[in-house]
Amino acid sequence: MAAISSGALARTAPLYDRVKRVIPEFEWATFADDVDAILDLKRKRNAVVLAHNYQTPEIFHGVADIVGDSLALAREATKVDADVIVLAGVHFMAETAKLLNPEKTVLIPDLKAGCSLAESITAADVRLMRERYPGAPIVTYVNTSAAVKAESDICCTSGNALAIVQSLGVEHVIMLPDEYLAQNIAAQTKVKITAWKGRCEVHELFNAEDVRQLRENHPGVTILAHPECPPEVVAEADFSGSTAAMSGFVGKEHPARVVLLTECSMSDNVAVLHPDVEFIRPCNLCPHMKRITLKNIRHALETNEHEVTIDPEIAERARRSVERMLAL
Ligand code: 13P
Ligand code: SF4
Repeated sequence: MAAISSGALARTAPLYDRVKRVIPEFEWATFADDVDAILDLKRKRNAVVLAHNYQTPEIFHGVADIVGDSLALAREATKVDADVIVLAGVHFMAETAKLLNPEKTVLIPDLKAGCSLAESITAADVRLMRERYPGAPIVTYVNTSAAVKAESDICCTSGNALAIVQSLGVEHVIMLPDEYLAQNIAAQTKVKITAWKGRCEVHELFNAEDVRQLRENHPGVTILAHPECPPEVVAEADFSGSTAAMSGFVGKEHPARVVLLTECSMSDNVAVLHPDVEFIRPCNLCPHMKRITLKNIRHALETNEHEVTIDPEIAERARRSVERMLAL
């Protein structure tokens, strides 16, 4: 193991102070060198780190410049004033950042950081859906490849899916590829929604029995569920919303005890901001999000691995779907 630099520990001490409730001191000692090196590399390379809410606290609170849900990361990507963007998240997020910043270098620290939803559908599948349902607009979740976005009419995220569906002014839309998100949105609108069979491998694991057990074991607990959870879970939860909406709910309502039915790092990151709230923590890990580490963020900034590239013709059409979403 490399020796721990006391200089790095001293320089990163103010950062550690923020996260000390969720990261033990001995563990931070193993992070300090990489955090210190990343902060230095960012300055030297005029780089920013965009991190999703599911990144571990040492990334989220230690080295990220911009954090948020998929919608916030896409929105903020349009405003970045830097030469290099490192996306601490999964591949579709890095592609979206590249679509919105074709001239900048966009890096993903691990190319295998995928997503079960993005994997569930191809561009050819979208063309088939268009043939089967002529005239119905295709709303595509941002958790898809650029090639799938290129075949779509407009993108959405869990934060704006209802607004996007309702903005189209039609009776029937196709919503791809998350079956549960589509069902959860359909429950809130008169618009008829035809879904695909994709699932998030993290959120599909929660069920209604989990919610009942939580209420029984933790009286008074407030239960928040991500809309990628099965509809039976959302129906029994107290609130459902994107990761940013869940974090906003905790900030606004200050529940005494809360559970976030979503990816594990979310509770750690939100707990840092709200020391007065008790977090009950049944959660599921996203193996794709967890591929991103301080070590590979540092490596990305040192070596430019891995640069995200998108075929220009696909990028042109995919960008239109993302920009239509952002314009709303
Ligand atoms: P949001 O952060 O947009 O809610 O998305 C959750 C998710 O699963 C991203 O992969
Ligand atoms: Fe994909 Fe689910 Fe992981 Fe998000 S949490 S990246 S939707 S598999």
